[in-house]
Amino acid sequence: MPLVSAGEFVVAGAGVGAFNVIQLEHAEALIAGAEAAGRPVILQISENAVRYHAALEPIAVACLAAARAAKVPVAVHLDHATSPELVREAVGLGLGSVMYDASALDYDANVAATAEITAYCHEHGVWVEAELGEVGGKDGVHAPGARTDPEEAARFVAATGVDALAVAVGTSHAMTDRTAAVDLGLIARLRDAVPVPLVLHGSSGVPDEDLTRAVEAGIVKVNIATHLNKVFTAAVRAYLADHPTVVDTRKYLAPGRDAVAREVTRLIGTVLTRG
Ligand code: G3H
Ligand code: ZN
Repeated sequence: MPLVSAGEFVVAGAGVGAFNVIQLEHAEALIAGAEAAGRPVILQISENAVRYHAALEPIAVACLAAARAAKVPVAVHLDHATSPELVREAVGLGLGSVMYDASALDYDANVAATAEITAYCHEHGVWVEAELGEVGGKDGVHAPGARTDPEEAARFVAATGVDALAVAVGTSHAMTDRTAAVDLGLIARLRDAVPVPLVLHGSSGVPDEDLTRAVEAGIVKVNIATHLNKVFTAAVRAYLADHPTVVDTRKYLAPGRDAVAREVTRLIGTVLTRG
């Protein structure tokens, strides 16, 4: 199954898992997990991950190659880009979708910046996600209590032409426990008001049953990063504790990769579905 754009499977009516890639092992695990579930998956590379690698191209090219070899549809997506130059680089490298995050700006500035990037991406056949309402917890920019207003969201989508909208409905980025209270009623109101798929960010903090309820209420793309890093790191820690003299990195990264693959299969196979 070839590399596809997220726009081909992020459509109302189904939950799609979108998971972040930092190391190559993440990409391998996400694809293995999706293949075992027989479902599509989105690999996301965030601007923070690009900063970590000091470049987009090496990790993006690796993800694109892994996606092309996958047995299920796989999209490669640029996540939380605040830099228009980075968006243009991603488009040039062949990523099929981007999230342009101008949510730290005020409403009018967010609309202007997002509309310009969206026009550029659409000229190049690239699908665009934007954010309105400042999902909590990222780099101290966002307030955890923020909420997206449905009427403003509808105006924002009409004014910018974006293909999907990240909304603030009670989640907060980078939570290491799963105690977030998602506002399911607000998701339903947003779904009724907004004509494009809704995206849930900061989903690591949401318990399984509420992830399922959020998808049932109208969330389509579910972004999870921290939770899978916890799973990866716990497996690596356990291996290293049992093998204190190991030095071959493959020996301890493989259990982390396998654990993430199993958790991805569970999430997209049984949690991110409609009941
Ligand atoms: O854009 C990526 C996500 O929103 C991931 O957030 O690390 O809290 O799951 P998380
Ligand atoms: Zn996010």
